[in-house]
Amino acid sequence: MSIEVERLGKTFFAEVRNVDIAKPMDAETVEAIRQAQRDHGVLLFRGAHLDDVSQENFTAHFGTVELNLRSDVDHVAALGNVDLEGNFRDPNTAQASFLRANQQWHSDSQFFKVPSALSFLRAVAMPKEGGATQWADTRAAWDALPPPRQADLQDLMGINDLQKSRAKTGHTLTEEDRKRWPPIEHPVARIHDETGKRALYVGSQVTGISGLDDAAGAALINELVAHSTQEQFVHTHQWTVGELVIWDNRRCLHRGLAWDEQSEARDVRRSTTEGSGPTSEGGLPIDEYARAQAA
Ligand SMILES: [Fe+2]
Repeated sequence: MSIEVERLGKTFFAEVRNVDIAKPMDAETVEAIRQAQRDHGVLLFRGAHLDDVSQENFTAHFGTVELNLRSDVDHVAALGNVDLEGNFRDPNTAQASFLRANQQWHSDSQFFKVPSALSFLRAVAMPKEGGATQWADTRAAWDALPPPRQADLQDLMGINDLQKSRAKTGHTLTEEDRKRWPPIEHPVARIHDETGKRALYVGSQVTGISGLDDAAGAALINELVAHSTQEQFVHTHQWTVGELVIWDNRRCLHRGLAWDEQSEARDVRRSTTEGSGPTSEGGLPIDEYARAQAA
């Protein structure tokens, strides 16, 4: 029995059917899903009904599963407004303000020197209204830029200063977090290590552009995020409990949409896979595809 893959919407969002990802899978099925993931960027599995353990096992088919640094369990982070017992979290805690940044366009773990490759998110509880997730296809957004504009952008480096980006949602880093995540740089137009295709790699976590003053850097970042999140590049998914979505952080941005956090639970669980290496060296972009080919 082989999987079925159907593209939904515009450019990069597909549904995978005819597979039960809660159960062990043969190598052929795993490879078919991995290929679909490379082809499409975002994959939806309806009615998957994983738990934390089966989500971690499924994630491990795609790479090394990352430890989640702010989670209740080791590899699958609870990112909702309720704890594991379903009790509402205190909205005034440091963790709550940290998580609020998920409502701004971003790519997961962009503040890591080696950012996460794939994210896996499953819906455990969803509000009656709101709480959808949106993804923006930053590869299509790059492809839509005129070649002279691409030439201007392709060697630029974005600065990721977690202290500055989290300040936007009222979160202040502890001294320990500042040391763990110092400001780092990633290319503005990253080359995908598996496909060799470029995608814009900007979002709310990018706080400046190397070589540009603060105002010029902020203006360029805002322009590129606005370009990438135009309607033709965006897919919105309203979740049903039991679904799992995989997305590729190297080629899309995402954000969660608001809901009534005071009275409705939104419980989502996320796991991630490690990226293949740093994106830059000595302040210059690395061709990640060439590196992967040479390895
Ligand atoms: Fe995220």
